[in-house]
Amino acid sequence: MRTRFIIGNWKMNKTATEAGAFVRRLTEELPSLDGIQVGFAPPFTALHAAHEALGPTPTFLLGAQDLYWEDKGAFTGEVSGTMLKELGCHFVLVGHSERRQFFGEQDSWTNKKVLAAWRNGLQPVLCVGETLQDRDTDQTDLVIQRQLRAGLAGIEGPHLESMIIAYEPVWAIGTGRAASPAQAVPVHRLIRQTINELSGAEAGRRVRILYGGSVTPHNIADFLASEEIDGALVGGACLDPVSFATLTKVAIRSKPTTA
Ligand code: PGA
Repeated sequence: MRTRFIIGNWKMNKTATEAGAFVRRLTEELPSLDGIQVGFAPPFTALHAAHEALGPTPTFLLGAQDLYWEDKGAFTGEVSGTMLKELGCHFVLVGHSERRQFFGEQDSWTNKKVLAAWRNGLQPVLCVGETLQDRDTDQTDLVIQRQLRAGLAGIEGPHLESMIIAYEPVWAIGTGRAASPAQAVPVHRLIRQTINELSGAEAGRRVRILYGGSVTPHNIADFLASEEIDGALVGGACLDPVSFATLTKVAIRSKPTTA
């Protein structure tokens, strides 16, 4: 049984002060989680405030949106896994499509970042996804497999089993045009199959695969109706604590109905 995980990706939103207020409101709305994991990834500048507001026994997991692959050194503007760990981060997003699209992130970088995350005791969440052009030209499977194989190169059995992959079709992100479960589920199967090929059936069974791209409180149940979908990476709908809490409550109630 894979524990479901809902992650909010704040992107470049909220100051440190706003982060503290968000955490307090979310905690009021959702005092317990009933068997699922919920986390959020503020900007670097708000991590400390969010961590403080979460307190000593946090209900929610704190994460970062990116990291650099070296632990320290002359890399102006970058933030390392070592630094994130000390700030109380549990997980870190790697290879989000906005990093790939706007900041030239390469598959080879995502691999180094996944390795750096594990080295520092952080749970990496590797994001993969095809563009609309890839989908229209039947390249989806190829692109997903390439991003996975490159991003996971050299990751060994136990770490591979504990990976979290976020499938986020680029055309569905921030567009209000979510993939349908019928579009997402085959890609989730492909991802699991690829992990099987990389490290055997046990890893394939255990790896968690989240869907991301215009997830809302209204459509989350449709995704979680599939056993293939182990949670969600949420952008726009995670910024308001009440909306994020509503989405999470629907996720807690949703049970898979298909094999
Ligand atoms: P969205 O973003 O929910 O606003 O589409 C998802 C993401 O980019 O992770």
